[in-house]
Amino acid sequence: MLIDTHAHLDSPKFDADREAVISRALEAGIDTIVNIGFNRETIPTTMALAEKYPFIYAVVGWHPTDAIEMKLEEDLAWIEQLCNHPKVVAIGEIGLDYYWDTSPKEIQHIVFREQIRLARRLNKPIVIHNRDAHEDVVRILKEEKAEEVGGIMHCFSGSPETAKKCLDMNFYISFGGPVTFKNARVPKEVLERVPLDRILLETDAPYLAPHPHRGQRNESAFVRLVAETAAEIKGISLAEMSRITSENAQRCLGITR
Ligand code: NI
Repeated sequence: MLIDTHAHLDSPKFDADREAVISRALEAGIDTIVNIGFNRETIPTTMALAEKYPFIYAVVGWHPTDAIEMKLEEDLAWIEQLCNHPKVVAIGEIGLDYYWDTSPKEIQHIVFREQIRLARRLNKPIVIHNRDAHEDVVRILKEEKAEEVGGIMHCFSGSPETAKKCLDMNFYISFGGPVTFKNARVPKEVLERVPLDRILLETDAPYLAPHPHRGQRNESAFVRLVAETAAEIKGISLAEMSRITSENAQRCLGITR
């Protein structure tokens, strides 16, 4: 048993062989996949996957790089309505992205804050995207009392100090392909320090493929490679790591299967 807590299997990069990709994940022992819909195009395609496959769950929200395209009131109402769906387990991925710079910071902040408020109102956990914006992400999470709902720091790339602040706000720290890279000193150090009961594993497929597939298309089956690295760093067996992180994901997202 293994859970990929963050995938984009609805991506056009899987149009030619999506069924095969999903079969390979099942064969590799991945029994639950959480797919993320993060804008006007990917929310409907994510919902379609979650409705088609019993083991695929959905997270829906508005990504910071697309913040400029959000019709705030209308799209918040859309997300709120989708949160009633039994397969929607969290709101995300939301947060801040100062790397791509496609949406002005002020707009990213409004869209982020409004979705945290919605999550608190609906009592749903949140999935956080954070790229080069550690300080502002932590500050806004604190100001908006995100600790009331908690959630997932997706593909965490910050320092051990930032991880500690997120743990204190009831977040789980999720690790993906980058922790397997040979030169990944900081992610490995963070993984060493995060308590076992707060670790999650993910792929972010089709992005961020783990070693030895670095640079290629990622897929959910590869979460096993992340689990192997995590088990090695924590000094436990792959089976233990798989069981613990699966229980963590189920607890965090309220998945009961
Ligand atoms: Ni993502």
